[in-house]
Amino acid sequence: MKASAIAFSNIALVKYWGRSAEERSALNIPLNDTVSMTKYGLVDGICLQSHTTVEFSEQYDQDTAVLNSNPLRGSRIDRIRRVIDALRELAGIELKFMMQSRNDFPTMAGLASSASGFAALGLAAASALGLTMSREKLSSYVRLGSGSAARSVFGGFVYLYQGGSHETAYAEKICSCDEFDMSVAIAIIDENEKPVSSEEGHATAHSSPFNDIRIIKSQQQAEIVRKAILENDFTTVGRTAEENCKYMHAVMMTSDPPLFYWSPATLNVMKTIMKLRSAGMECYFTIDAGPNVHCLCHRSDLESVAREISGIDGVQRVVPAVAGKDAFVTDEHLF
Ligand code: DP6
Repeated sequence: MKASAIAFSNIALVKYWGRSAEERSALNIPLNDTVSMTKYGLVDGICLQSHTTVEFSEQYDQDTAVLNSNPLRGSRIDRIRRVIDALRELAGIELKFMMQSRNDFPTMAGLASSASGFAALGLAAASALGLTMSREKLSSYVRLGSGSAARSVFGGFVYLYQGGSHETAYAEKICSCDEFDMSVAIAIIDENEKPVSSEEGHATAHSSPFNDIRIIKSQQQAEIVRKAILENDFTTVGRTAEENCKYMHAVMMTSDPPLFYWSPATLNVMKTIMKLRSAGMECYFTIDAGPNVHCLCHRSDLESVAREISGIDGVQRVVPAVAGKDAFVTDEHLF
């Protein structure tokens, strides 16, 4: 009962932030629908992927999880158990598991390593347990570990419903990676683990006076972006994604305690993107829970945008990426 899977990270074009107190919180159900682009890195050795092997066996007397050679403990293994326990229950199997996972890019630095990580975990575990289910259903189980991970089950452009119950909060593909022309140049400003995790940030979002309006606006923006992707309207997607990112960061900055994920270089990249846009190159920025900036552009402009932002003070490197593929099962096991 052993299987491995590879999944790719994603960037939210319409994001969620914050969780409600009650049952939705235990089930990790986001407060608004979200939209994302699954990414595939074009740098040698950085495909922006997580590769995970899971084995269930009588030889294990406890659950064990190892990420990038570090054993996970406390809340970090509990999060993994949330996904695996639900899948174990579905399969009617009580065996303990061993999980090993490797990211080919910085972990917990605002680059959505938990998205690719939990998507690979869910797919590998379901496959090791012999469960067959639709990707939509799998995405609900993956969501129990990380909301953004539900979207990384799919490649291309993805919609995640906030639903309201475990079954209805699932992801579905809007279109595949070659049906909408959007690429992203990722300005990496800090590769270290962020000092405040998304998990902690979600818990304080409700204290911002802008939280409720962000939720209402984001719900509308998710619909706008989905429609624009289907209509091949790059301008609306980019403009809305940039606006949505600013709303989320406004909530972060006005929460109690406040959360400032940006660094001076973050702002410099944002300003450069706006300047490039005024000069006629169509590009937009979006930023997750960290200082790194995702610059959205057409594939034909990717090299130029990457070049422009790589010269900015404080930008350590730029990873160009295109829309990525579905998560998949592989025979390559990590142990
Ligand atoms: C800002 O709960 O998915 O990326 O703690 O990394 O699992 P992790 O994050 P998650 O929150 C993601 C928040 C976000 C926005 C988004 O992806 O929608």
